[in-house]
Amino acid sequence: MASSSSRGPCWVALALLLFVALVSTANGDELSAGYYEKTCPNVQHVVRSVMASRVAAQPRMAPAVLRLFFHDCFINGCDASVLLDATPFSPGEKDAEPNDSLTGYSVIDDIKSALEQGCPATVSCADVIALASRDAVALLGGPTWSVPLGRKDSRFAADPESTKKGLPSPKDNLGELVTMFAELNLDARDMTALSGAHTVGMANCETYRDRVYGGNGDIDPSFAEATRQTCQAPSGRAPFDVQTPMRFDNAYYRNLIARRGLLTSDQTLYGGGGLQDNLVEMYSADGEAFARDFAKAMVKMGNIPPPKGMPVEVRLKCSMANY
Ligand code: HEM
Repeated sequence: MASSSSRGPCWVALALLLFVALVSTANGDELSAGYYEKTCPNVQHVVRSVMASRVAAQPRMAPAVLRLFFHDCFINGCDASVLLDATPFSPGEKDAEPNDSLTGYSVIDDIKSALEQGCPATVSCADVIALASRDAVALLGGPTWSVPLGRKDSRFAADPESTKKGLPSPKDNLGELVTMFAELNLDARDMTALSGAHTVGMANCETYRDRVYGGNGDIDPSFAEATRQTCQAPSGRAPFDVQTPMRFDNAYYRNLIARRGLLTSDQTLYGGGGLQDNLVEMYSADGEAFARDFAKAMVKMGNIPPPKGMPVEVRLKCSMANY
């Protein structure tokens, strides 16, 4: 028979294990594709079917949701903080520049309401964005991948100043982009693949005005001329990829080689020589290599955890903390 002294260390080890498991969950790691297998086995199906019907009605919701995921993960990790409305005590991350041009919130709300019916208080809003953005890419004809799940939602949004600082600017150069992504453990290859998301969707003239009027030589003149036209209309917008604006393909990289990148931060990925140019040339020639690297980088970006100690929960409504 085991003595009480030999049982002691065993209990201590068990308690320690449990403690470590709880803390790691609270910090957003330990994600796994089967996280909701028992608690919400239909989660993927629900997300996909709401996405499919919302995107069928309004195709531009697909790029919008994909951009939401990027903006969520870059500020305080993938914790759905971007979805929180402002309160009398804290301004909303969503109102800060450049988040003020984000859309697609209602799609996330629709998915969350559908999930609350079958699996109340179970699936985090952060996981909803991660799944919905994966489905957005697939609905646009791009790759699909398995999404690790188990994220939690933060109770607080980041302040406007750090939100602005934490997101890249359309005027950034290559060095600035590499540094900013590296701070989140995303290397130059991840950054180059993720930027390929700009093969879909549109941008506001304010974000590319300097580039198309600047005439710095690093732009195809006929592209500059045609794009300037879009700036004539109030709130004019241009597609990132003129030819296939709603198809998730590798046209983005062909555009860069043709000096038809829409933003300065797009065009800066090509033309400086070396490994960076090799990457762009490789993705432009090999759509499958791009699809593979994009999927890998989306999983890596989706793993960015909230800061240690951040209070987290599974929100019941994505736009507000539970109490
Ligand atoms: C590399 C640094 C990046 C910069 C500087 C940047 C900047 C921008 C800007 C300025 C817009 C136009 C917003 C507007 O005028 O409404 C935009 C749109 C977009 N961005 Fe990025 N972005 C970057 C990376 C990414 C990444 C990593 C993703 C996703 C993985 C992404 C996804 C999108 C999508 C899909 C749109 C189109 C949104 C729509 O049509 O509603 N971007 N981005």
